[in-house]
Amino acid sequence: MSHLIAPSLLSADFSNLKKDVEMINKSEADWFHLDIMDGVFVPNISFGIPVLKAIKPLAEKPFDVHLMIVQPERYIKAFKDAGADIFNVHYEASTHLHRTIQSIHAEGMKAGVTLNPHTPVSLLQDIVADVDLVLLMSVNPGFGGQKFIENTLNKVSELKDLIVKKNSKALIEIDGGVDGTTAPKLIKAGADVLVSGSYIFGAKDPMKTISDLKNLK
Ligand code: DX5
Ligand code: ZN
Repeated sequence: MSHLIAPSLLSADFSNLKKDVEMINKSEADWFHLDIMDGVFVPNISFGIPVLKAIKPLAEKPFDVHLMIVQPERYIKAFKDAGADIFNVHYEASTHLHRTIQSIHAEGMKAGVTLNPHTPVSLLQDIVADVDLVLLMSVNPGFGGQKFIENTLNKVSELKDLIVKKNSKALIEIDGGVDGTTAPKLIKAGADVLVSGSYIFGAKDPMKTISDLKNLK
C-alpha cells in the first residue's frame, strides 16, 4: 500500500474553510485530519462538533478525527453523528482504553490510539491488535508549526515490529512537523499515513505540496 496523506485543517483558512475543503477534495490527499482541542488535555482550544457538521456535506474524503481532550469516550456518538470516520483517542487521556476502542467500533468507526512523544510504544502491546491505527505524535500536541522530534523515527520502527509480532493490522500515522525533509524519512521507517498542516497550508501551492508528499517514494 502506498502511504496516505491527511492534511490537518488546523492550519487552514478558518475564514474560508469551504475553499480549503474543496482544495483537499480536488487534491491527491486521502483523508481530512481534524484536530479537536479542549484547553485541558492540551494548552489550546481549536474547533468542535458544529464545525465538523458544517463541512461534512462538502467533504468527499474520510474524516480522521484526533481528539486532544480529556475523557474522549464521552463524545464517541456525537462525533460519529458529526461525520467522523476514524476516531483517535490519546492513550494518556483514556483510562479504560479497551472499552473505549470497543465503543468506537460499535459506532461503526475505525479506532485509533495516539501516543504523545514521551509515551513508549511498548505500552501498546496489549491493545495494538484491537486498533485500526496508531497515531504517533512527532511534536507535543496543541499547536501546528512545531519542530519534528527525531526520536519519532525510532518509535516508527519499534511500532512496526510490535505490529508484526502481535499480528495487528494497525496503520502507523504520524502527526507533527511533517514536511519535505521529514516525510521521506518517515516513509522509509515504515509510516503509512502522514498528517501535515502548516507545510501544506503555508505553501504557495497547497495542491502541489500534497501531490509531492503523496508521490514520495
Ligand atoms: C498538533 C496537531 C496536528 C497539527 C500538525 O497538535 O495534532 O495535527 O495540525 O501541524 P503541523 O503539520 O504544522 O506540525
Ligand atoms: Zn492531529
